Amino acid sequence: MCGIIGGIYQNNITPILIDGLKYLEYRGYDSAGLVVLTNDNVLQRVRAIGKVVNLENNINSEIINGTIGIAHTRWATHGKPSTKNAHPHICNDSIGVVHNGIIENFLELKAQQQAQNYIFTSDTDTEVIGHAIHQALKKYGTLLKAVQSAITTFQGAYSLGVISPQNPGHIVIARSGSPLIIGLGDNGNFIASDQVALISITKQFIFLEEGDVADITKDSVIIFDKNNIKVEREIKISKLKNWQTSKGNYAHYMQKEIFEQPQAISDTLESRITKDKVLTLAFGHKAEIIFKKIKHVQIIACGTSYNAGLVAKYWIEDIAKIPTHIEVSSEYRYRNPIVLDNTLFITISQSGETADTLEALRVVKKINKNIHSLTICNNSESSLIRESELIFLTHAGPEISVASTKAFTTQLVSLALLSVTLGKCQQQISQTQEKVIVNGLNHLPSLVAKALEQEDQIIELANTFKDKFNALFIGRGSMHAIAMEGALKLKELSYIHAEAYPAGELKHGPIALIDKNTPVIAVAPNDELLDKLKSNLQEVKSRGSQMIVFEEESSKVTPMQDMNILSITNNLGRITAPIIFTIPLQLLSYHVALIKGTNVDQPRNLAKSVTVE
Ligand code: M6R
Repeated sequence: MCGIIGGIYQNNITPILIDGLKYLEYRGYDSAGLVVLTNDNVLQRVRAIGKVVNLENNINSEIINGTIGIAHTRWATHGKPSTKNAHPHICNDSIGVVHNGIIENFLELKAQQQAQNYIFTSDTDTEVIGHAIHQALKKYGTLLKAVQSAITTFQGAYSLGVISPQNPGHIVIARSGSPLIIGLGDNGNFIASDQVALISITKQFIFLEEGDVADITKDSVIIFDKNNIKVEREIKISKLKNWQTSKGNYAHYMQKEIFEQPQAISDTLESRITKDKVLTLAFGHKAEIIFKKIKHVQIIACGTSYNAGLVAKYWIEDIAKIPTHIEVSSEYRYRNPIVLDNTLFITISQSGETADTLEALRVVKKINKNIHSLTICNNSESSLIRESELIFLTHAGPEISVASTKAFTTQLVSLALLSVTLGKCQQQISQTQEKVIVNGLNHLPSLVAKALEQEDQIIELANTFKDKFNALFIGRGSMHAIAMEGALKLKELSYIHAEAYPAGELKHGPIALIDKNTPVIAVAPNDELLDKLKSNLQEVKSRGSQMIVFEEESSKVTPMQDMNILSITNNLGRITAPIIFTIPLQLLSYHVALIKGTNVDQPRNLAKSVTVE
């Protein structure tokens, strides 16, 4: 994920670009840059490694001045963080381009362009965009037509901002799979990846739709749809006031972070899927070669991240047919594990600094040099990111509450993308199967938003726990891992002792725990194990427990005495169900904690990042 800002303004655009980039740093900050078109009609560029402040310092010494400009803050996908890889990229002094996303076929395009004597000065996939537009500009004469033509050759996901001295007074932008908005001002027009970057300049925004291309001047905005037909897009008035890591209108960070999940999930999907496929390059340019030869998967993580990994075990074996093992880091690192060649060693961590997980990675690299490592992590600056061969960032944004919520669901989304990608590389999944999963993922943000609407019913259910000291969570298949996450949330937030079991295991011991003082919480999607789960619910009920069942609407669990059933939604699949059923469990724990009067954001004895053994 990278951040784009640009504009055509009545005065020098540079301060606006710098200010906007600072708001976009949450999207990536390993390097930043900007290019303006000077009054002499020349592209003038400055780039710097690291945060935007480094760029700002460079600019103070150079005097960059122009009314048209584009800028970028980068999170590296192709090519390591360096000045030469920082955006904007310039082709033949004639095209300046900023890009967010991945051009999947860049190697193929690069080979064609090299044969036409185009020079490449970076390791990015973005330069092929500049060269393709340069080539088309020679043919079509206007930047708009050049961009419309060039993008037909791109595969993948992108948002683009382009300027050229050959067509001064215009910025042309394109959106396909990555967000881009237009801000309409009194003294100019602007573009950005996110409205937060422009909110100090304007409140009027146009949100581009998939496939849109727009030709922007200081006084006009003309938009074309994916068929190059001129279209009108609605102007929306933003209500956004400030962009802070504050609690806003929420009582606690945890509540805020629970409600941020639709956005966090869509940010994690951004630029990594199209409407029907997952982009393998989202895992880095070496991923395809590595994923093709993988024979085993070993997942290592702690706490909530472990629970996400447990769901992934089901998905990877089911979709990619690769034997997958999972273990908590604190055990794995000390037990002299056997590590086979061609193992993909996956660490999952919100912080990327969890000592046990980091040490497990270091240990395994010493045991077998022929493994490949991948980390799924929410902190781009962390040790796990630095020490892993492949990296995949969850884009949950800062998670302040000690109890993980949005970090968990975005880990699940990332692991779903991984399962499909492994399945494709191992030739275990058809295009049709991939399309079905991707369709489900594309609907996730709205499904999560719908599940969040049930907070009021969950507040009522939370009262059940007022005088309780024990609880049991049950589920089957991958939902067993969701039951574990539900139990972990309840115990860490409300200090109620909670256990989670695969529902079929109850009769082998834990059923002895059940009495009227031990509520049982079950998660019941309409999957192939539903009938088995229903039998387990009968077993529990006949021991006199109070029960809460979160069911998919079509599951139709038979109501019984002392059983509360809450229907969540319908038409869930093996990927969407675990993510959606997490939501009511998070809300339940949050509201039980409020009833119990515990410290919600900082529960006793816990730390957000466990950097010690
Ligand atoms: O930063 P990590 O994901 O590596 O942290 C792992 C656990 O410490 C963490 O998930 C912990 O269990 C959370 N407090 C759970 O809400």
